[in-house]
Amino acid sequence: MTTDKEYLFDVLVIGSGAAGLTLALDLAPSAKVAVLSKHVLREGSTFYAQGGIAAVFSEEDTVDSHVKDTMIAGGGLCDEKAVRFVAERARAAIERLQDYGVGFTTETDTKGRKILHLTREGGHSQRRVVHAADATGMAVETALEDKARHAGHIRLFENYVAIDLIREGKNGRCVGAYALDRQGDHVHLFKSRKVVLATGGASKAYLYTSNPDSCTGDGIAMAWRAGARVANMEFCQFHPTCLYHPKAKSFLVTEAVRGEGGHLLLHPGGERFMKRFHPMEELAPRDVVARAIDHEMKRLGLDNVWLDISHQPADFIKEHFPTVYMKCLEFGLDMTVEPIPVVPAAHYTCGGVMTDLNGRTDIPGLYAVGEVAYTGLHGANRMASNSLLECLVFGSAAAKDILSRLAATPEPPALPAWDESWVTDSDEEVVVSHNWDELRLFMWDYVGIVRSTKRLERAKRRVDLLLGEIADYYGSFKVRNDLLEMRNLAVVSDLIIRSAMARKESRGLHYTLDYPEADKTKQPSPTILTPENFRPAP
Ligand code: FAD
Ligand code: SIN
Repeated sequence: MTTDKEYLFDVLVIGSGAAGLTLALDLAPSAKVAVLSKHVLREGSTFYAQGGIAAVFSEEDTVDSHVKDTMIAGGGLCDEKAVRFVAERARAAIERLQDYGVGFTTETDTKGRKILHLTREGGHSQRRVVHAADATGMAVETALEDKARHAGHIRLFENYVAIDLIREGKNGRCVGAYALDRQGDHVHLFKSRKVVLATGGASKAYLYTSNPDSCTGDGIAMAWRAGARVANMEFCQFHPTCLYHPKAKSFLVTEAVRGEGGHLLLHPGGERFMKRFHPMEELAPRDVVARAIDHEMKRLGLDNVWLDISHQPADFIKEHFPTVYMKCLEFGLDMTVEPIPVVPAAHYTCGGVMTDLNGRTDIPGLYAVGEVAYTGLHGANRMASNSLLECLVFGSAAAKDILSRLAATPEPPALPAWDESWVTDSDEEVVVSHNWDELRLFMWDYVGIVRSTKRLERAKRRVDLLLGEIADYYGSFKVRNDLLEMRNLAVVSDLIIRSAMARKESRGLHYTLDYPEADKTKQPSPTILTPENFRPAP
């Protein structure tokens, strides 16, 4: 297999979730844009988001309060400039989605006016979460997709998997990427003046996750291989409440269920244990709740805990949580009359490719937006509903920056074609599936909610072995999506383990038995990993 086609665009956007599509739409009408998506356009985390998007709309609320809550949840590691940048732009981002036709849930206020209904989630001191019932992501992604399909300046490439970024010369600007067309089984060359990573997170590195299959950290791994720094990879967020059922594939039960009064119980009708862990009880920041559940499950040998909102009127539950209600019914659980079984699962990658407030990475011409990026917003723990917001705000900021530079950016030079003339078809598919299972299991067991130095060392030995095996395998056989994902997951897992080993304290989402307290002897700082081929900007 050699390069089949060569394309030339002004901007190549890799990823079609809230971040990628916001950015692509904002480049209208002057830039010619390609959007690559590894599956169909909507298949990413955005589509499955439930709870909502944080923004100050209530008269009792302020941007300062949004900033303060975010910083508290972030465990002293948020960059206040980034937090304020996002919080100040939240309202405009929501209003733009309304212009795109997103129908957020409304209510009527005491003066008879129709206003946005605001729900609450963990860490928020105010009602601040704008939502479309419990399927906010579906409403947002569908509207963005509809706009993108009708935008004259955008060409969509579905089922195209980006393999690796291309730099001009060895250390020059980023000028494109190779991508595998999964249906035609060809590798194509995409050349562009600017390249944007909007590939989402990496929670598929863990055995149990709320994320769809696409979340294999491809963008983080590609940027790392190309020479960009990554930060805060140890901060993997575990959502406290995924439905516990053998057929549910870790279906998320939105935090808004707790925001609207849901209780966590050890047994149906049993103790509300969060009282023992945090004054905000069920609405404590996510790291606290997930750790409390993990602790109680291990202490009592439980398979799960229980989430009970059955004390609220049935109509209220069905109106606010139609998706969760229907999903539970599929499994014979009626949340209007009984508690439902829940467990924590990997949910969000707080770290990622380092960027500035315009989404620019270390590599000239390369941007990163959305969950793939580390902007400084989330610190050691992301506050609920701040992440769709980050996608929208940084998607727009990066588009603005790109537009301001495009005219002065020359076309990419001639680039080498993809060459697979020396590789063969694999006769050992089992190697990939075996490595995939092994990796996700040891990441769950050794690099999960509670860590220790010994467990991290064990994980490091295993990931080193896998990296070696995958490199051999990758060099010998034709590329396929599962091999590419496996290769990326191994790189990202290694980055997570190395970052976790470097942090000799417990902070936010990183909890280790060997250093159970935060280190108060020095100013907290992000964990920054630098690849060998990193070159500081001139
Ligand atoms: P995604 O939406 O994940 O999109 C990534 C895109 O990149 C996809 O199109 C994928 O196909 C593409 N891609 C990946 N790799 C490649 C490749 N190699 N080549 C080509 N394309 C590639 N956040 C909130 O703020 N509020 C919520 O209520 C909320 N609820 C959530 C519920 C669930 C179940 C989940 C999983 C997450 C939730 N989150 C929520 C988090 C939030 O949804 C995500 O952080 C956000 O949607 C990420 O958007 P994104 O555009 O960065 O990536
Ligand atoms: C949820 O609805 O609980 C998810 C919210 C988030 O991850 O921000």
